[in-house]
Amino acid sequence: MRATLVNAEKFVGVANGALKMAARDVRVFYGESEALHGVDLDIYENEVLAFIGPSGCGKSTFLRCLNRMNDTIDGCRVTGRIELDGEDIYDRSLDVVLLRARVGMVFQKPNPFPKSIYENIAYGPRLHGLASGRAELDDIVERSLQRAGLWEEVKDRLEQPGTGLSGGQQQRLCIARAIAVSPEVILMDEPCSALDPIATAKVEQLITELSETYTIVIVTHNMQQAARVSRRTAFFHLGNLVEVDDTTKIFTSPSDGRTEDYITGRFG
Ligand SMILES: Nc1ncnc2c1ncn2[C@@H]1O[C@H](COP(=O)(O)OP(=O)(O)O)[C@@H](O)[C@H]1O
Ligand SMILES: [Mg+2]
Repeated sequence: MRATLVNAEKFVGVANGALKMAARDVRVFYGESEALHGVDLDIYENEVLAFIGPSGCGKSTFLRCLNRMNDTIDGCRVTGRIELDGEDIYDRSLDVVLLRARVGMVFQKPNPFPKSIYENIAYGPRLHGLASGRAELDDIVERSLQRAGLWEEVKDRLEQPGTGLSGGQQQRLCIARAIAVSPEVILMDEPCSALDPIATAKVEQLITELSETYTIVIVTHNMQQAARVSRRTAFFHLGNLVEVDDTTKIFTSPSDGRTEDYITGRFG
């Protein structure tokens, strides 16, 4: 058995899969200002975990800790410990590029590379040496687009720019790009907030399908979306993780008054 930080009694009754990631006493500082005040959270294999809470409460900040995207922000400092499969992801010897392939990210605003649809998907597998030749790369591109539900719409125009697709297609392209490097965890920061309802429904459907293979953590400001796609929900408020529980419990009988106030619209 690997040594881990599991603190099982704190999380009883909310999970049945294997532990995938564990965060302990995670604090994030932007300069002198502490934006996250010691977050403890376990994330289980193949779950869809939603982060909700008022704007500015630290959801994106915490999400970025999970694949060290905060490293790219000047003046941002992270303390505490985060494990992926029992390994400290902030360990100095860890390859951050590899980490970000294992823990992929999809952003609020679709951000395809200014390259062809094909190259958007092929870039990561090539970088990580996942294909031994063109045929294998073609295969990865096709399978990734299939999984993201985009293949039929783009198969005849793979050489055209990814930025020429509609917003919803671009977001599925970004999901395909994340999938192409065979991630274990996919982080999504309000992936539907720039999409219309039809494109949103497609992405939500996709999240449900993808959770069979991947662990998914999704930030959403839309409580109906959290209720539709997630098995567990974590409520953040003013830089604290207030509670995490089964999504139905959070939305019907939360333990904390702050969660109750938020889900009933008393603040937000
Ligand atoms: N790059 C940054 N530089 C300085 N402060 C930041 C930065 N990103 C976020 N913050 C601050 O950290 C807090 C949490 O922000 P954020 O994680 O974006 O919240 P949420 O995603 O829940 O809306 C806010 O007070 C915000 O102003
Ligand atoms: Mg945010």
